[in-house]
Amino acid sequence: MASDLPPPYTALTRHPMMPHTSHDEAARFNFLTHFNRFLSGPLGSGNKLAYEKRALPAFREQHGRDPEHRYEIREAMNRDNWHRMWSAMKRNSMEMRQHNGRQVVLRQLEELGEKAGQLIEMAGNLELDQSVEQPHYQTAVDIHCQPGGYHSEELPGDVSAGANYDVGIFATTGGALGGLNDGGGQAVVEWLRRERPDWQPRRVLDIGATVGHNAVPIAQAFPDAEVIAIDTAGASLRYGAARAAAMGIDNIRFVQASGEDLSRWADEHFDWVQTTMFLHELSSKAMPRLLKEAHRVLAPGGLIFHIEQPQYSDEMPLYEQFMRDWDAFNNNEPFWSAMHALDLKQVMEGAGFPRDCQFTAGVRAVVDPEIFPPSPDEGEEDFGRAAIWNAYGAWKPNLGEQARAA
Ligand SMILES: C[S@@+](CC[C@H](N)C(=O)[O-])C[C@H]1O[C@@H](n2cnc3c(N)ncnc32)[C@H](O)[C@@H]1O
Repeated sequence: MASDLPPPYTALTRHPMMPHTSHDEAARFNFLTHFNRFLSGPLGSGNKLAYEKRALPAFREQHGRDPEHRYEIREAMNRDNWHRMWSAMKRNSMEMRQHNGRQVVLRQLEELGEKAGQLIEMAGNLELDQSVEQPHYQTAVDIHCQPGGYHSEELPGDVSAGANYDVGIFATTGGALGGLNDGGGQAVVEWLRRERPDWQPRRVLDIGATVGHNAVPIAQAFPDAEVIAIDTAGASLRYGAARAAAMGIDNIRFVQASGEDLSRWADEHFDWVQTTMFLHELSSKAMPRLLKEAHRVLAPGGLIFHIEQPQYSDEMPLYEQFMRDWDAFNNNEPFWSAMHALDLKQVMEGAGFPRDCQFTAGVRAVVDPEIFPPSPDEGEEDFGRAAIWNAYGAWKPNLGEQARAA
């Protein structure tokens, strides 16, 4: 029988930059890992019951019809005591995760900063640019309850934002991204190997890379490629550069730049532009600007690939849309709801990618076999333990090649 329990927090892979956790700190993360699984599993299913047995009948009684929008379901469910309790606990789990992560990191801030400084100096893999402004959509709120967001600094050379992100994401995701929290990047590589086995990108741009969780596996998979991981947040990039150096990765550079302004790179410079769980943290004005820039720097025949949670569509039940929208209203994700309701194909078309070169694919995080050892009765099936995303991508048309072929 497959176990429904998440792996223990101690299954996290401890690369040399990972903050040290005491027994009690690890125990708190362990509790949170299990608490999150409990909230999304047994307790989460109580929301559906609450909807079907109470909120929906009450809505029908009042309006004489079914809800027509996810926001109508939200309004109805926000009156339901079970949903309110579940929602409060889920919000609290995010706050506890951030609180524990911050405590872990702040007590060893100087030590982490020194270690990062030495690794970065040896590797020479970090380029910070103080003229890069933090976009307002990153500073307006503490995104997913992360105090100070991805960019705030406690002291010069600070790595606390990145270190906190790295030390706690395992608890938030129940280990579903693997020991190095890189299951998304590994999944992208797997997809590409299946799709274009012989393709060898030379220059890769990862926009909004944070600490490089998902850019590093790309660099590892294509050791002859040059991978540029950009982000606006220096405090996250510093940690990411030190982490990559500590892991011995030498073909990735961490550069402070905004995806909205890629002017330091020439037209058609990259063969591959990647974003992972990034677009939903932009704004409705920033996203089209950024995609136009991505189109400009992408070479003909190159790949643009975005990993995201699935977009809402007419085929997705309204109840599921309501549940997926939770983060927008309770977890400081202001663009989440609007972004997931967009027709991404249309947005990508507006940025220059014709519809017929676009595609959507399902991508499943690569489950770490050391964390989730397959048991004999499971076979290849992972019983839903890996995170599942959609990929929204396009191969940029190579008009020159097409003209020559015609
Ligand atoms: C959810 S995280 C992305 C996670 C990351 N891609 C990964 O694979 O682990 C969003 C990141 O985007 C960065 N960011 C936000 N706006 C940006 C922009 N305009 N240009 C570059 N990075 C940006 C934030 O600082 C943050 O680190």
